[in-house]
Amino acid sequence: MCGIVGAVAQRDVAEILLEGLRRLEYRGYDSAGLAVTDENGTLSRVRRLGKVQELADAVHANPVSGGTGIAHTRWATHGEPSEINAHPHMSGENIAVVHNGIIENHEALREMLREKGYVFTSQTDTEVICHLVDLELTNHTSLLAAVQAAVKQLEGAYGTVVMDRRDASRVIVARSGSPLVIGFGMGEHFIASDQLALLPVTRRFAFLEEGDVAEVTRFDVNIFDRDGHPVEREVKESEVSHDAGDKGQYRHYMLKEVYEQPIAIQRTLEGRLHNGQVISSAFGDNAEELLKNVKHIQIIACGTSYHAGLVARYWFEQWAGISCNVEIASEFRYRRSHVFENSLLVTLSQSGETADTLAALRLAKEMGYMASLTICNVPGSSLVRESDMAYMMKAGAEIGVASTKAFTVQLAGLLMLVGAVGRHNALDAAGEARLVSALQSLPAKVEQTLTMAESIEALAEDFADKQHALFLGRGEQSPIAMEGALKLKEISYIHAEAYAAGELKHGPLALIDADMPVIVVAPNNELLEKLKSNVEEVRARGGLMYVFADTKANFASDDTMKVLNVPHCDEFIAPILYTLPLQLLSYYVALIKGTDVDQPRNLAKSVTVE
Ligand code: AGP
Ligand code: GLU
Repeated sequence: MCGIVGAVAQRDVAEILLEGLRRLEYRGYDSAGLAVTDENGTLSRVRRLGKVQELADAVHANPVSGGTGIAHTRWATHGEPSEINAHPHMSGENIAVVHNGIIENHEALREMLREKGYVFTSQTDTEVICHLVDLELTNHTSLLAAVQAAVKQLEGAYGTVVMDRRDASRVIVARSGSPLVIGFGMGEHFIASDQLALLPVTRRFAFLEEGDVAEVTRFDVNIFDRDGHPVEREVKESEVSHDAGDKGQYRHYMLKEVYEQPIAIQRTLEGRLHNGQVISSAFGDNAEELLKNVKHIQIIACGTSYHAGLVARYWFEQWAGISCNVEIASEFRYRRSHVFENSLLVTLSQSGETADTLAALRLAKEMGYMASLTICNVPGSSLVRESDMAYMMKAGAEIGVASTKAFTVQLAGLLMLVGAVGRHNALDAAGEARLVSALQSLPAKVEQTLTMAESIEALAEDFADKQHALFLGRGEQSPIAMEGALKLKEISYIHAEAYAAGELKHGPLALIDADMPVIVVAPNNELLEKLKSNVEEVRARGGLMYVFADTKANFASDDTMKVLNVPHCDEFIAPILYTLPLQLLSYYVALIKGTDVDQPRNLAKSVTVE
């Protein structure tokens, strides 16, 4: 969702800005633009509706030069996607602004600014920022002071970079509710909404905190907190791998990330399991002291991350012997909920910037939870910085909008949390050793399961002309059925829904006919026999079944049922393993449908606005 890139350098920065936007495309957007200014005060702005490539073509057709610049990929919230609404927005000839987020009091500000003679050229909320800065420059002698005064009048979420044609030596950066990082180069500095954008030019970053305003020149970065006091933000070496921003030999990022799962899981386990035990410090330096008192887990997340939480609820209650509740963040944040005693709040998020999850954390911190832990993939993200403890997933950047490796790595992290908490509750040493052994077998089992790809690709043809699909699972596999349905719908646009298989006769059975493919995840556990009777209920009504079954489950294919065998595994890791064929199925169906696999319509990788 939207992206910002900025630079203050001696060299021309247009290509740096364009490459940064390209590396942020995966976040989803509808238009793009950039503005550069040089020491002579010449400001050039180019904006285009559509893809970054169209902006690049326009810039290459009429090259622009300047060592100071700002650029943006827009995800429209106020004002339709159009060239006139694309950022950067300007006030007169001097002030240019890019902005991520929503200015909630933009109408009142627009009215005030109009009364002072400002003429608006766009329908966006963003445009109030540039006119406000221009107005404040009549009250302040520096761009920094003018921006500090302007942002104090903004309500809502913003990450914004302000540039003045008359002073190409600096830009001013302000962050409240939408992340921004400063990139440190040699005699040049950069800004971005995601460090991934700047990896070609630097690997050293400082993460702005809520309310920070920074003055960035070629040689200095001066950061001030919301009260205007100078603050230091630690400059860290990026942990994001260099190649995260390219597909390598894969046709899509999603496929690359599906096949990265063995190594991603390997990385998340590294140094965190020892002698049949989970090492608690994986969750934070003093985690053990805290985890031993946990008696309830409250999980909050969105989308795929929510599905991971639903799986973990079965694990916490079955293996760790403690109660667990899982809730969608956008619901949790707007209702009065009960806080159980000795309750640990756990947020799950790949990006660490999902607005609803972040808002839910901020609300929960006022509600008396004993502590907050986030299981997250992005170092320095808001959730990581605002939680008491953080489990860093180390899955590597996930570019495809459809979350794949992040999901299975989250589940591996949650299973480790089950061990670290369970050992103080119902999980004995033998049980923890078995859990650890199952986790250690996981990378190889994932590798083995991915060899199903060819048979799943052949299966995808059956779905090409289907309008609907039904996914079924039981126990901790019912959230896996939900995840399979989400994958299929979000990248192939086929309507898909999931049910706990036992629910079929309570209504969904009415949907079953030859045009409704039914996909079943059927591991070999105590629910298998019950699942088999659910399968018969479907077959008796002419439904076409696709069953992903444990090799030992004795499901045989016939003319109404196609069975694909999944390698046998310990039930601890079955939900993780059974996700893989569903990821592959959705990918191959989307290929046939010709949809944009990595950037599905209407979706964004990180939903940073509610
Ligand atoms: C999943 O494929 C989607 N991309 C989406 O549901 C995603 O999981 C959700 O927006 C949560 O994102 P997060 O994990 O970054 O918080
Ligand atoms: N609200 C601003 C707009 O609609 C910014 C949206 C974004 O974050 O891209 O232009």
